[in-house]
Amino acid sequence: MDRNELYIKGPQRMHGELLIQGSKNAALPILAATVLGKGIFILHHCPKISDVEHMLELLIDAGCRAYWEGHMLIVDTRELRNYRVSGNGAGKMRSTVTLLGSILGRMHQVEIPYPGGCTIGKRPIDLHLRGLEQLGAVFEHQEHTLLGKAALLHGAPVYLGFPSVGATENVLLAAVLAEGVTVIHGAAMEPEIVELACFLRKMGAKIRGEGTPVITVEGVEKLHAAEYIVPSDRIVAGTYLFGAAMTRGEVRLLHVPLSHLGNLPGLLGQMGAVVEAEEDWIYVRMDQQLKAIPYVVTAPFPGFPTDLQSALMAALSTASGISFIEEKIFEARFQIVEELRKMGASIASEESFALIDGDDRLHGATVEARELRGGAALIMAALAAEGETFIRGMEYVCRGYENINEDLKKLGVKEINAGAGNKKENP
Ligand code: EPZ
Repeated sequence: MDRNELYIKGPQRMHGELLIQGSKNAALPILAATVLGKGIFILHHCPKISDVEHMLELLIDAGCRAYWEGHMLIVDTRELRNYRVSGNGAGKMRSTVTLLGSILGRMHQVEIPYPGGCTIGKRPIDLHLRGLEQLGAVFEHQEHTLLGKAALLHGAPVYLGFPSVGATENVLLAAVLAEGVTVIHGAAMEPEIVELACFLRKMGAKIRGEGTPVITVEGVEKLHAAEYIVPSDRIVAGTYLFGAAMTRGEVRLLHVPLSHLGNLPGLLGQMGAVVEAEEDWIYVRMDQQLKAIPYVVTAPFPGFPTDLQSALMAALSTASGISFIEEKIFEARFQIVEELRKMGASIASEESFALIDGDDRLHGATVEARELRGGAALIMAALAAEGETFIRGMEYVCRGYENINEDLKKLGVKEINAGAGNKKENP
């Protein structure tokens, strides 16, 4: 039985209420930040996903201890002693790179496997390195690893040429224990930056301006352990909201900070959905076929997030009319196009542009998830499609979605099975 395959019989209407899991992209930098303080950290509502498990492998390899109690993650960093990040999780994910700033801050040297690109783009780290060099770090590119040293980290003005989320996180992580004041100009404003700053402040850091393009950090002598509630995952929530819209469903998602959703509620309304929301829940109902959207461009927060671009494309494939998407963040984030075409979608893509001629008749097919967010979008498309869909590559989806099967079952989906190979054995 192939557990990395999912079987869905559509069309199915998503309906019900769901508490959204913790955020992958908030939890990962927060875990990196625990390295900066000696003590026992308690992180509530932490998502049990493979990227978090890989990050824990690295922390344990460096000498930390970690264990779960339900969704509460306890991390003990008192015995951290190893500045070399190895472990088989290291090369597997991009967010290893945020250990640069935090291990430099704690140990004044760091060695990580060179974080290569991935399927959605080259993903260089020049902005990370230049920012950390402003604070006094020196890097040496070895054959397979990157070695960083900083006998003394000192505050400095840092000018980011692009509001990179990871580079902003790395400079923040190195600045909190640096001597003097750091001002990050052109900082990313994503909710995950705000959450990281709030977590670091609970550890004793002195930070202000997070969520704006200018963040000021006053370095302190040392930081201590903290307890924190990881926010819900805005991208998981957005994925399911598009799924509800595509299946003419009705969902209420709980524990979702409205401030983290940017322009998504407005876009769903433009597509014809009924949208109601308060501070930490959002309700979406779709009574009609989705309306096309003339043009959507992905942008840094509070613009439309690149991580929801595939789910938007899947939704617009079921809309009436022509829609345009421009992907301006990553250079290779249209891999879902080929897979949606197998399901009958009419999409033309050229470089960073995709034109979608929507129709509400997607049909089932065997499709391949090539990366995390594209895979999740294919599952939404399968729910809207007529007939049976087999989605291969579910290991990508498990990187960010804790248990999409269970989530969808709570949202009224019936005909869904992991390990399609045994479809006949399942009820
Ligand atoms: C974070 O990646 C997220 N990952 C991504 O989510 C998200 O898509 C991205 O931010 C944008 O919002 C995590 O938080 C773990 P960036 P990150 O640095 O930090 C270029 C998901 O599916 N760039 O803001 O790597 C880069 O190539 C993942 O959950 C440089 O050129 O994103 C890209 O084109 C996918 N040089 C753009 O900036 C650098 O030094 C945005 O990258 C750094 C980035």
